[in-house]
Amino acid sequence: MLQISNLHASIGGKEILKGIDLTVKDGEVHALMGLNGAGKSTLSGVIVGHPAYEVTQGSITWDGKDLLSLKPEERANEGIFLSFQQPVEIPGVSMVNFMRAALNARRKHQGLDPLPAAEFLKLMREKRKIVELDSKLTSRSVNEGFSGGEKKRNEIFQMAMLEPRLAILDETDSGLDVDALRIVAEGFNKLRTPQTSAIVITHYQRLLDYLRPDTVHVLIDGRIVKTGGPELAAEIESRGFDWIVKGME
Ligand SMILES: Nc1ncnc2c1ncn2[C@@H]1O[C@H](COP(=O)(O)OP(=O)(O)OP(=O)(O)O)[C@@H](O)[C@H]1O
Ligand SMILES: [Mg+2]
Repeated sequence: MLQISNLHASIGGKEILKGIDLTVKDGEVHALMGLNGAGKSTLSGVIVGHPAYEVTQGSITWDGKDLLSLKPEERANEGIFLSFQQPVEIPGVSMVNFMRAALNARRKHQGLDPLPAAEFLKLMREKRKIVELDSKLTSRSVNEGFSGGEKKRNEIFQMAMLEPRLAILDETDSGLDVDALRIVAEGFNKLRTPQTSAIVITHYQRLLDYLRPDTVHVLIDGRIVKTGGPELAAEIESRGFDWIVKGME
């Protein structure tokens, strides 16, 4: 279970998150919506430990553990995964080596031996199928020259490989064509278990139609200003955010 209390965070001395309270129980999917610049990516960066952000107040616990005291790689080992809004290219590092290093680091943390090469490649094949990722892509350097949509699909492939307990998807739907969106969303659903939870950041209801979130939150100016069920996403789709902002005044 993820528990965020009164979280304040700044970047370059500017406060972006102004008191976030959010609890995500095991098995739950929470959607996070909100205007551009509201702080959604900042929140995801703070959860995974991106060094650019300074937490000035509040706490984040993960199964009761103080998440903020852990290094980014330790948070990953704890099963927390972020699919980036803008995935980075890592020239010279092959997908195979990258995934093997990530997976074996996690296994080491779990007290397991590295996965033998043949088993690892079998796993790559299995997981690739879930998101229908072309084998040509996994034989290249990480994200290098991938199209926008291919990068997003590759993020969910990495998630499939690592089987996180908390997945944060930051606009994974942006840039995907409609068929790719369906494949990626259905792939995500196949990976769900009663123990896994997710925070899904999106501007569009379409992804949420597939993922069926338990709860939808609206983040505006660094605060969660409204929380509701999936019907809130539908209302935002048709009415925008104006009525929510007006209600705050
Ligand atoms: N490295 C940075 N330096 C300066 N300002 C930053 C930095 N990163 C984020 N910000 C600012 O923090 C604010 C929140 O940004 P954030 O990326 O969290 O928004 P968002 O809700 O994810 O928006 P979007 O829907 O456009 O992705 C913005 O005003 C942004 O300009
Ligand atoms: Mg963002």
